[in-house]
Amino acid sequence: MDVLEAIKGRRSIRRFTGQEVTGGQLAQILEAVRWAPSWGNSQCWEVIVVRDRQTRQQLHDALSPKNPAGPAVMAAPVVLVLGAAMQKSGHYKGERLTRFTEWFMYDLGLATQNLCLAAHRLGLGTVIAGAFDHDRVREILAVPAGYEVVTLIPLGYPDHEPAAPKRKEAAAFTHYERFPG
Ligand SMILES: Cc1cc2nc3c(=O)[nH]c(=O)nc-3n(C[C@H](O)[C@H](O)[C@H](O)COP(=O)(O)O)c2cc1C
Repeated sequence: MDVLEAIKGRRSIRRFTGQEVTGGQLAQILEAVRWAPSWGNSQCWEVIVVRDRQTRQQLHDALSPKNPAGPAVMAAPVVLVLGAAMQKSGHYKGERLTRFTEWFMYDLGLATQNLCLAAHRLGLGTVIAGAFDHDRVREILAVPAGYEVVTLIPLGYPDHEPAAPKRKEAAAFTHYERFPG
């Protein structure tokens, strides 16, 4: 699959058939995460693979009932929980190197796009869910201090083909030589 074709064809999938995701497929997806770029190659990401139905039910309950990704947490056979070690990305010897504290979010974003595109290439769907009770999910998964949980990503075979939400034209966010230009 061509890269641009994959980028444009990937959609947020919120309905799944329930067909299992194999260990081999999961390994390919994790390999794509592995090769994501990161600050100083710090690779701060952590991925928790959740298949257990009871745990998925608890994760589901940590999302607001209004979150459109909620049902996907139960419908997909796997939920990948993405988190990160703190004070690695954008840090050196415990000191932050720029005005931003959130470089782990940047690295996780890159890893997440790799993950979603690799899944799409395998005919699998994903939806990134970021709106949930993060403290509750830390509790459910027994995440220790020094790590944050950032997104839940249900993964499975798509049961629908959603239309692409509209995008701005590139001219609306591209500036030459000066901002805003
Ligand atoms: C960081 C992040 C958090 C998101 N959180 C949610 C969420 O909590 N619930 C949801 O249904 N979709 C969530 N989404 C999916 C976006 O709504 C979706 O990517 C966007 O509408 C564009 O649609 P597309 O992915 O099909 O291109 C999130 C996406 C990102 C990148």
